[in-house]
Amino acid sequence: MKKILLGVSGSISAYKSADLTNQLVKLGYQVDVIMTNSSTKFITPLTLQSLSKRPVHTDVMQESDPRIINHIELAKQADLFLVAPATANIIGKLANGLADDLLTTVAMALPFETPKLIAPAMNTNMYSHPIHQRNLETLKSIGYHEIEPRESLLACGDFGKGALADIQTIIEQTHLILNQRNA
Ligand SMILES: Cc1cc2nc3c(=O)[nH]c(=O)nc-3n(C[C@H](O)[C@H](O)[C@H](O)COP(=O)(O)O)c2cc1C
Repeated sequence: MKKILLGVSGSISAYKSADLTNQLVKLGYQVDVIMTNSSTKFITPLTLQSLSKRPVHTDVMQESDPRIINHIELAKQADLFLVAPATANIIGKLANGLADDLLTTVAMALPFETPKLIAPAMNTNMYSHPIHQRNLETLKSIGYHEIEPRESLLACGDFGKGALADIQTIIEQTHLILNQRNA
């Protein structure tokens, strides 16, 4: 069974990670969810735990099994790392090597060859901000794949590019990358 490490960050679209988790599990993947603190304001760990049928991880200092270091083990076991939705903040932290929460610490501990996908979701001005675009380019230059956001009427009322890609698109990209890797 392929293991997907799903990072969920604090976007208004975080609720869609429930559908994403549910569909990935039904397709036969093991989904281990890591949530940022902000994302837990939008969707509960209990929801994602119930849908993934796995413990949901939120705290880098929470070490439930004293025989292992949780963030290292999570990183080692993943066949694919996916952050959906990915906030401007998490993308900035990933691009700059920060590791101040569980999600970013795991990302730093991933083996270089582990496929890495990010699905940004944010306001259109945030998405087109030069610093954000630079951060995306940095991540792509080290092997991250971007699942581009859609142009849509956004939750803030603006129209433009920034809406989380369709769940179906995220699933297709995940399949594609995992299968390319097996080819
Ligand atoms: C209602 C609401 C919606 C938000 N939606 C987004 C979003 O879609 N994308 C984004 O980058 N930030 C969004 N934010 C801001 C992030 O939650 C904030 O930058 C936070 O620090 C992100 O933390 P994280 O990256 O650790 O999850 C939103 C904030 C609020 C209050």
